[in-house]
Amino acid sequence: MDIKFLTDIGFLIGSVGFVWGLKLLSSPDSARRGNTIASIGMGAAIISIIFAPLNQGDNNYPWVIAGLAIGAIIGYLMAMRVKMTAMPQMVSIFNGLGGACAVLIGMVELRHFYTGASAMSGGQIAISLSALFIGGIAFTGSILAWFKLEDWLRDNALILPKHSIFNMALLVVILAMGIYIYVQNIDAGIGLAAIFMVLALVYGVSFVVPIGGADMPVVISLLNSFSGLSAASAGLIYGNNFMLVGGILVGASGTILTVLMCNAMNRSLLNVLIGGFGGGAAGASKGAVGGQVAKEVTLNDAAIQLYYSGSVMIVPGYGLAVAQAQKVCKEIDDLLESNGVDVKYAIHPVAGRMPGHMNVLLAEADVPYPKLLDLEDANAALKNTDMVVIVGANDVVNPAALDDPGSPIYGMPVLQVWDAKNVIVLKRSMNPGYAGIQNPLFFHEKTRMLFGDAKDTLSKLVTEIKNL
Ligand code: TAP
Repeated sequence: MDIKFLTDIGFLIGSVGFVWGLKLLSSPDSARRGNTIASIGMGAAIISIIFAPLNQGDNNYPWVIAGLAIGAIIGYLMAMRVKMTAMPQMVSIFNGLGGACAVLIGMVELRHFYTGASAMSGGQIAISLSALFIGGIAFTGSILAWFKLEDWLRDNALILPKHSIFNMALLVVILAMGIYIYVQNIDAGIGLAAIFMVLALVYGVSFVVPIGGADMPVVISLLNSFSGLSAASAGLIYGNNFMLVGGILVGASGTILTVLMCNAMNRSLLNVLIGGFGGGAAGASKGAVGGQVAKEVTLNDAAIQLYYSGSVMIVPGYGLAVAQAQKVCKEIDDLLESNGVDVKYAIHPVAGRMPGHMNVLLAEADVPYPKLLDLEDANAALKNTDMVVIVGANDVVNPAALDDPGSPIYGMPVLQVWDAKNVIVLKRSMNPGYAGIQNPLFFHEKTRMLFGDAKDTLSKLVTEIKNL
């Protein structure tokens, strides 16, 4: 049978696997299956493309197999070891590698063209240049994002005076140079293409430099869409339909996610890209900030209030993930339910550090999905809720987003926990959350603080409730 036909079948299986997998990823119940199906699709496409050169009599099997083996081992070890809280870094590294691949492919093909080893149409030159440009930004931008997320680089390090003007000027120079290379065709030469590539790599760094704090997940999602588009460009260069479909799916889903995150924070993408959001608040001592004193509650009082209330809303945030408190949280949920308390969870779309972060953690602890309320449903339910327990959330319950026009998070939809009768906040100190700003909720008349590591505090609450 024709090898080309078999390759196309493999690509078709791969593309269907991706689309089907993506569809299943939209619900926590089916996400694991979606991931497996997409992986099988990817496997089918890889096997097909390995056999594709057989009928051309020219292949580099030792290189290909060595690359596959090294990549598979590194990928497997990283995936097995990564902590849930370090997932954004992992995504960032993958985005960067995708971009680097597109840069290498674009450069190799342009080199073949300029040295006369192969011909290229104007369209192919333009596509190769776009692979260099978009892939270059995805590569260095993602590596810088990874450094920032690991705290190896301060958020405001490397920012130049008038940084956004510098970025704009650099972008204009790169685009003008791209047009020049395209118009000059074969006369442009590999040297100019190499300078174009270096400028794109510099732009990737400069693009991410001003962004920091709570905006990092947004920029990672945007770079994810860039890495998809660069893979699609590489697919066009090789006429590889699978790379094209996969790249477009990643590009489109990354773009949609970026827009959804900006909407959830009520910020424009431009505002995110110009940067300077949050990150500046100093640490605060336990209980008091700027003369204001937050009221505390004892473990015993908290246990009594929770056990004898009619309804409890748990608001999980980043601290739940850090403390890995999801399982003990479910234990409290079970104890309260056994006493007839109606327990629900309020899930803010940007709680934690990545989309769906809280859903994943709670699913891990076997919290039934119907107990999870989204922002709108939770806000409606909070008006009739007796007790709110905030477990390591901060920015997503900050009333300043609604009533302080000077706040950097003003306009971001938040969980209006103060509508409930009582609020208990579990966190270790008065330190701010990711946006770096103080939270007036902690000084609200309905709020009581329960300081400590979330897992530790919840475990002690379990003991207190059992002793009631
Ligand atoms: P944050 O505002 O970051 O607050 C988390 C709180 O958890 C901190 O104030 C911290 O206070 C507490 N904490 C940390 N470790 C803890 C532990 N071991 N035990 C108990 N508490 C602990 O979290 P959030 O409310 O989930 O908001 C998420 C932020 O990320 C928002 O600003 C959001 O805009 C941003 N963001 C998220 C996303 C996605 S996709 N999730 C995307 C873009 C932006 P202590 O240090 O005092 O304990």
